[in-house]
Order: sequence, then C-alpha cells, then structure tokens
Amino acid sequence: MKFKDNFRLGVASASTQIEGGRVNSNWNWFSDQDKITDHSNVERANNHYELYAQDLKLMAHMGIKDYPFSIEWARIQPSENNFNSDALVHYRDMILEMKELNIHPILTFYHFSHPMWFEEKGAWTKKENIIYFLRFVAKCLDVFGDLVDEYITINEPNVYAVNGHFFGVWPPEKKSLSETIKVMSVFALAHIKAYELIHTIRNNRNFTNTKVSFAHHVRDFATNSNSYLDKNIASLFKSLFQDKLTNAMFLGKFDFPLDNYGKVKQGQYIDFIAINYYTRTTVKNLQEGFMDNCYKNDLGWEIYPQGLITVANELYSVLNVPIYITENGTCDNNDQFRNRYLFDHLEVVNQSNLPIERYYHWCFIDNFEWAEGESARFGLVHNDYETQKRTIKHSGHFYSQIIKEKGISEETYEYYVKNQHYHK
Ligand code: BGC
Repeated sequence: MKFKDNFRLGVASASTQIEGGRVNSNWNWFSDQDKITDHSNVERANNHYELYAQDLKLMAHMGIKDYPFSIEWARIQPSENNFNSDALVHYRDMILEMKELNIHPILTFYHFSHPMWFEEKGAWTKKENIIYFLRFVAKCLDVFGDLVDEYITINEPNVYAVNGHFFGVWPPEKKSLSETIKVMSVFALAHIKAYELIHTIRNNRNFTNTKVSFAHHVRDFATNSNSYLDKNIASLFKSLFQDKLTNAMFLGKFDFPLDNYGKVKQGQYIDFIAINYYTRTTVKNLQEGFMDNCYKNDLGWEIYPQGLITVANELYSVLNVPIYITENGTCDNNDQFRNRYLFDHLEVVNQSNLPIERYYHWCFIDNFEWAEGESARFGLVHNDYETQKRTIKHSGHFYSQIIKEKGISEETYEYYVKNQHYHK
C-alpha cells in the first residue's frame, strides 16, 4: 500500500490524560472521589507536564511530525480572575520545542476537562458560561497564537454530554436527557463563537493559514435484526448522538431539539472535518448491542474499519472540506492486534476517494483513559506508571516504519501484520 502524496500521519493526545499533577479540575475532583474503575488518580498519568521534552524527543525519534495536543484550562486559569503566567509560558515553551523538532502542532482548547470554578457556575449547562471559555481561548491566543495555525475548539462534545449528563458515568454525574441536549446546544454555540473569535484574532494580527474545527466523535450505526423498530431506534440514536450536532456545528443549522438561543446565523463554521472514529453501535431489541460474531477490542468495542469511511462519506456530504482523522485507535492491552487494526483502518482510508489528508493515531503513550484510568492501554508506546519509563511497542515500531515508507510494503506487512488476529 502506498499513500497519496499529501497524506500525513501523526499521533494525538489530551492534556488531562498525560500531564499528571494537581490542578483544580473536574477530573481531579472526580478521581479524588475514587470514581475511577482501577482506583488510579489522574494526578499521576504520564507526568508529561515535567517530561514533555523527553516525550517530544521520542516522538521525533519515531519520525512523527504531526501532533494534535490539548492544554489544561484549570492550570492556565486556576480561578476566574487569575491566569497563571507560568502555565502559559510552559505551553509556549512546549510548542516551541515541537517546532524545534519539526513537529507540526494542532492545538485543542477543550478536551473534557475544565476548572472547578467553571463547574460551580454550571459549566456547559448554561449558555451564559460560554463567555468564560472565550476569555480563556483569547488569552491563549495572545500568548501562543503566533505559533499555531490549526485549532480544535472542543473535543467530542457528544461524548462529554452523554457520559457526564445522560449516563452519569463521568463528572458531573448527571442523568438527564433534557440537560444532555442543553449541553450539546451550549457546546455547539461555544464552538461557533470560538471559531469566529479565533479567526478574528488571528486575522487582526495578520496571521494567515488559520484553520479551525471541532473533533466530532462519530460512529457507524447498524441494526442486528430486520426489526422495523430497531431500525428506527438506531436512526434516532444516530440523529441525537451525532447528526444534529453535525448540522449545528458545521453549518449553524440548529434543528429540534437543539437550540441556538437566537444567536447564530447559518454559515460555515469548520475549515476541515475532524473525525474521531473508534467503533460501530448496533441496535438489537431496542438497545445498544453487537453484531453477531464481531471482533472486539479489550474494552469490548467492535472493531469495524469500514465504518470509518461510512461516517467520513456522510460528513463530507454535509460539507465539502478536507478531512482529518483526528483520532483512531484501540484498547489492546498487550499490543497483540494493534498492527492489524492500524493496517485495516489505513487501508480503507487509502482506498477511499475522499480528501482524507491526515490520520492521527490515538494515542502516542498509554495514558489515563478517563473512567477506566490506567487500566486501558491505547498507546504506541508503553508506559510503566510506577517508574514513568516509556518503551516503544511493536506497534510503535510499525508506525515509524509506515511513516518512513509513506505506506506499507509487502515485507512490512509480513513482518508486522500478517500473524496478528483480532479476538471476539
Ligand atoms: C477521546 C479520548 C479517549 C479515546 C479512547 C476518544 O473518545 O477523545 O480522550 O482516550 O476516545 O477512549
């Protein structure tokens, strides 16, 4: 397999999952309540806040040149009226280090974590709170907006809304459908405002090439029966989980039940489609289930590469702009099938005629997997949490080889992929 000329590969991360340290965020609060399945605490993670230079060197050593990462709002703005200049300088230095190593940064402003003072104001349940997010964005642009051209405003608004406000398995542990829908509306509005703000600030400073989007977690939805009811339920889930947000956040089209609070004109609010794709959801007997005999990863998620192209086609039909796969990866605790997973997903991407320009693997180093804590490993690099020693996995070597070859040669396939198999 040979990739198209302009195709770029990289790795993705999120501050809370790697940095470690004590900040007053919703995730520090949540793990302090001993809510994490394996009783780990986000305070440890990868200690990347201190070890970032070493980690970036490792990335460069592996040939990785593209990197979406996020910054920690609670660290930068520990209280409503206080921006921490050390933290801002830290992130500026970190981005400079990336540039020094020829690593192209994409900056994410919000990836599931925020300061507790924001939580106490009602966080994303109130449209009046969007202003706090915009102030944070503007401050960061002041300090390092000259160094970064590409931005993700918000990562996976639907995942945060559903886990935190519908299933109640993430902070703030709410279980309310109406609140979930409200949070989605507020996120969509916040994205649009941030999209406009980032462009305005960068234009005023005469920076060109600004590109802004949000990372959309999208799934393929199917049914495991011919039941008419199941089909209807699947399309209802799909519409509420992702399609309504697509229209709102790509185009400013807020359809019921989302609400734009009279504040948005229809237009174009993304410069590229950012897709986070992991799995397919199958409806059976009116609830979430699985396809018969499907392959699963170590968290029990179906492995279904073709779904990536189905969702990419759908999103591209809504808006014809370039596509970046901003996250794709799998929980494979013993690194036994990650190479096959990588191969199968890259193969469907490469065979597609869609303008898919980038692929970012989730993730670089095993990290703090939210409610699963340290127990779920997604990394190309192994982390020993006790010693913080990083070791490149077999899949990490494979990924370096893919980047080097700009494709996957037959020998590379034989060596890394051929003998790997998924499990059911
Ligand atoms: C999130 C990541 C997470 C990954 C694997 C994505 O939905 O953006 O933060 O670690 O999935 O669960």
